[in-house]
Amino acid sequence: MTAQTLPEEQPLPDGPTPAGSGDRRALLPPLHLGPITVETPVVLAPMAGITNTAFRRLCREHGGGLYVNEMVTARALVERRPESMRIIKHEPDEIPRSMQLYSVDPVTTGHAVRMLVEEDRADHIDLNFGCPVPKVTRKGGGSALPWKIRLFESIVATAVREAGRRGIPVTVKMRKGIDEDHLTFIEAGKVARDAGVAAVALHGRTARQHYSGQADWSAIAALRESLPDIPVLGNGDIWSAEDAVRMVEQTGVDGVVVGRGCQGRPWLFGDLQAAFEGREDRHRPDLPMVISTLLRHAQMLIPYFDGDERKAMQDIRKHVAWYFKGYPIGGALRSQLVTVESLTQLEDLLGQLDQSIGYPGADARGPAAGPARRRRSTCRRTGWPPRSSTRPSVR
Ligand SMILES: Cc1cc2nc3c(=O)[nH]c(=O)nc-3n(C[C@H](O)[C@H](O)[C@H](O)COP(=O)(O)O)c2cc1C
Repeated sequence: MTAQTLPEEQPLPDGPTPAGSGDRRALLPPLHLGPITVETPVVLAPMAGITNTAFRRLCREHGGGLYVNEMVTARALVERRPESMRIIKHEPDEIPRSMQLYSVDPVTTGHAVRMLVEEDRADHIDLNFGCPVPKVTRKGGGSALPWKIRLFESIVATAVREAGRRGIPVTVKMRKGIDEDHLTFIEAGKVARDAGVAAVALHGRTARQHYSGQADWSAIAALRESLPDIPVLGNGDIWSAEDAVRMVEQTGVDGVVVGRGCQGRPWLFGDLQAAFEGREDRHRPDLPMVISTLLRHAQMLIPYFDGDERKAMQDIRKHVAWYFKGYPIGGALRSQLVTVESLTQLEDLLGQLDQSIGYPGADARGPAAGPARRRRSTCRRTGWPPRSSTRPSVR
């Protein structure tokens, strides 16, 4: 049978390799984050506007792992802005409840973490130091923040202390640094470890790179080597289970964090679980499977947006190109799908697709096509940090 004609595979249960599986060996042991055990050491990367309850459910149904929420800013959370309160919701069966916070100051971080802990809203808190948006990094926030190492230390230590009141583990997600002249990841990793984080995740790009080029897995390997005493997770350019295996083999990481590779492909988590359990079965969805997943995704977005069908349809539009990547569905229908207004209209449009279309092969995965992103000058316009600045390493 060719890849195109392989039948759709069933979602795989999480857990140990089934009995009778011979000499299949797990690629990695479970990931331990404080009291939390993640049997399949795979993390859904937090993605703003993507990793809401609806998408997380689809991913969870396919495989084991840790499914992180969309990012909320500490300030918006403390102010209980309605959008943030919606974002932090989890479904009753979603355990652990994993949350990502973005903050630029220790006091607000402390208030936000205390709120999450005292109101029993989270089992795991990830701190985001990876945002590459120039508007943010120019002011020294996001992925530029670890450059101000004492501020970084203070934010992380405050979060760890507040979360520690209820034994909730805190992790840190960061980039390599501002640019190749201002790398921060080794020093920041050590500072975060000393502050008591349960793990550190590294996206192998600088802020200046945004999403261009290739993620630098050698930086991930270097961080793994520098932090022998806590789990290190690798992130960047995992588009398939085979990529994840390669990353583990090349870097020695304790787990992988997967972002764009699962956009429109929640079944990737099934493939990742299979690969991590030493199995070779992979999902090769035909068009009907893609259609039914997209439709369920859209349906689940309606309760997520408190019954606002219009908002749900606006949200699903951005997923259309990802779901149909590599499938020959025709430009006219695509255009209609990305302006869909109602669930009925979506059902009608999806019903017009040719149900006999099979899996298109490797075309269905990989980076989404689109205009190359401009390299931006990250923090330079404000003259921060100074061009010649060097800071001695802490240790
Ligand atoms: C649409 C989008 C939204 C993102 N939002 C966040 C976020 O809120 N927090 C965060 O730490 N990273 C965010 N990221 C970065 C991803 O978590 C991840 O680090 C990055 O995409 C690299 O991993 P990948 O190559 O597997 O996509 C976002 C990425 C994308 C594409």
